[in-house]
Formats: sequence, structure tokens, C-alpha cells
Amino acid sequence: MADLVSRSQDLIAPVISWDTDIEIVAGNGSYVTSASGEEYLDFACGIAVNNLGHQHPGVKAAVLSQIDKLWHAGGVFRYETLVGAAEQLRDITPDGIEKFFFMNSGAEAVEGAVKLARKTTGRQGIVVFRGGFHGRTMGSVSYTTSKAAYRQGYHPLVGSVFVTPFPHPYRWGMTQDEANELALNELRLKLKHEITPGEIACFLIEPLQGEGGYYPASREFLQAIRDIATEHGIKLILDEVQTGFGRTGDWFTSQVYDIQPDVLVMGKAIANGFPLSAVGASADLLDEWPPGSHGSTYGGNPVACAASIATVDGLRDVLPGVNERSLHAFARFREMQSRYPIIGDVRGLGLMIGIELVGEGNTPNPDAWKFVGKFARDHNMFILNCGPDANVIRFIPPLNVSMEDLDKGIDILDAALTAHESASA
Ligand SMILES: Cc1ncc(COP(=O)(O)O)c(C=O)c1O
Repeated sequence: MADLVSRSQDLIAPVISWDTDIEIVAGNGSYVTSASGEEYLDFACGIAVNNLGHQHPGVKAAVLSQIDKLWHAGGVFRYETLVGAAEQLRDITPDGIEKFFFMNSGAEAVEGAVKLARKTTGRQGIVVFRGGFHGRTMGSVSYTTSKAAYRQGYHPLVGSVFVTPFPHPYRWGMTQDEANELALNELRLKLKHEITPGEIACFLIEPLQGEGGYYPASREFLQAIRDIATEHGIKLILDEVQTGFGRTGDWFTSQVYDIQPDVLVMGKAIANGFPLSAVGASADLLDEWPPGSHGSTYGGNPVACAASIATVDGLRDVLPGVNERSLHAFARFREMQSRYPIIGDVRGLGLMIGIELVGEGNTPNPDAWKFVGKFARDHNMFILNCGPDANVIRFIPPLNVSMEDLDKGIDILDAALTAHESASA
């Protein structure tokens, strides 16, 4: 039989942009094993999904036990794991998030959140923040502005979407306060010139932009957005698909920043690799969503919900250790920044860290990323990039990574940058 790469080239649509041609056959903790038997440190985590690493014993046991009982119920019957998963989410989400609607993917949950906002406010306007990533379906890609290429060829997109700046202090050459002021001013101008606040259903924002380059919004910026939303009856939707489930140091970034969302969007790590996503909001708001006006055949699958319950249980033990790992990683990256002029910025929260690689005059340096990514792979480590120029190292190890493996991964990046310096000398 032909090898997997050529079989996949024959059968799988090339629209998937593969990060590597390596075939993996197994995962365990922070490692995956290739078909040829090589072990790789997996700091891609299935794009911030495996927060508990691969084959987490608690999640595995819960899934196997559920598989023995029930796989699918649709919206026909009620079943325990759906309600159990919601109870877990109610415990860990910000106060005021009281009821949930389950779906399958982040994009689907974003779609649900925006539909909820439109339906319950009776308004059409959707305000999104430049550089945000919210998914690839026709609705969610209409709210996605991390890269124009994601939207190219798909117009006309969903209407009445208004894009306003998200503060990018490093790229703009400003302090955080200056960037906040500029972005808020632009929003105020938008509300004056383009759409009145009374026509806006929602503000949709990532509290820490992921795909867009790992830019945290500051608490001050989010609070200002919260205040404008409250003043005008606009729903504040926080997209925590990537930032949730311990990634930024607390269960959700809204808790790190102490910002109350009207609607919280969850996905990715919610079930540590099983397809599940959710929208959470107050009981009052979700009770206004008329029965049957939204739905999903597979949403809240019994096995995925069992995985989610066990994932949250597993994260309860792991969450207290995230801060220590985060401080250690930030200290090491900042020390590296002092040695490598190519590191323009180190930013993020918790274990969601962006290391921006730059050239002359702080211009984005995607070639340096290509070198680092390849060096890491050649040294048995997977790591991803982010940002519109693909020049930001996206550092997202499993949250339960051992300190030894954390250092091992950072050592590989350090060696990659040394090698890059020698290669460019
Ligand atoms: C913040 C955010 N929202 C939404 C999505 C879309 O999620 P999915 O790919 O599961 O549809 C992503 C995926 O990367 C994301 O990072």
C-alpha cells in the first residue's frame, strides 16, 4: 500500500493546511509517537485542545464507561451526562452564567451565541474586533478578521458586521494605555458614524486574541467595552474557545480579568479532544431563546459530555500548578528576549504565550518562524505559530506538562534561536 501521505493526498481535500507530513499513531501525556516509532514533545496540543495531554486516565475511563452505555440521543431523550456537564460548567464559569446550550465546534458555538444575541435583542448589528478569530463557517468567518485569506472568495458574508480595532500595542508601537485609547476612540467613532448603539445586538471579542497573534486585551479595555455594552443593552459575547479551561491561569480569562460576559463561548479544551462546545449565559437570557429556534443533532453528545465532566475534574487538580509553570516560562522567554534581538515581544497569560519574531525595525519575520518550527520538529517537538504574518511562536504546552518537559521544550526553542543566529551571521 502507498504511504499515508500519498493516500491522504489522493483522498483528503487539500484545503486542509497540514502543519507536518508526520504520521502519528499514539499519544501519551505531553508526547505523541510517530509511525516510525519516534517520540515527539507535543506543544501543539491539537491547537489548544489537549489541556490535560493525551490519554488522560480520568477522561479515558469516563469515555469508555459511557461508550458501554449510550452513544447518541440527539434532542430526543434526556440523559445524565448532558446535565452533569452543564452542572460542572455552572460551577466553573463566571457568576451569572447559569444555563448552557451544547454544540460540536467552536464555530458552531460562536454562531449560536450571535444568533442568541440577535434573537433576544431584536437587533442586527454585530461588532467584532480586528484580528479576532471565531471560526470558518459562513457566519463565524464573517466575524473573523485575523487574516483576509480566510474570507477571500467567500463574499458576500453575513451583513451588518462592523469591524473595530483591538489594541495591538506592540505592533502599533504604543503603550497599552495608548493602544486602548486609540481602539476605544475608533469604537466611539463607529457608533457615531456607522451604526447607532441601539441597533447593535452584540460585541463579540476574544479576551486574548489567539490566531490573531496572542494579544491579551487589558482589563481596562474589556471593562470599557463592558460599560458601553451595559449602557446600551448590547450583549457582550466573550469567545473563550481557545482561552478557556485553565489555559490563561484561571478557568476563564473573564475571571482572570474579572469581566462579566453576557454570553460565554466555550470549545476546544472543554472535553480534552472530544468534539463539544457550549454557549453559556444567564437563565433569564437563555430562557428568552424560543424552543426550536436553534438546534444541533450531535450537540452535547453523551460521550463528549462524559469526557467534559472528567476533563473539568482533571483540571481541578491541574489548575493550581498553571501559575508556577507560567511564571517559569515567562521568565525564561524574557531572559531569552534579552539575548536574542529577534524576539521583539513576549506576551500572553498563563500558558498561552506568544513570542513574536521580528527583523529590522521590528518588522514581522515569518522566515525566522519557519526556521524555528522546522528546528523544533527536527528535534522532536511540535509547536505552532500564530499572527497574520505567521511570525509569532504559539506556546501552548499541556497545562499538566512536567517542569522537566516544560524546560525541555523551551531549551529546544532556545537552541533553535541560537542556530538561527549562526545561520544568519
Ligand atoms: C477563539 C476561537 N473561536 C472559535 C474558534 C473556532 O473553533 P472550531 O475550529 O472548533 O470551529 C477557534 C478555533 O481556533 C478559536 O480559537
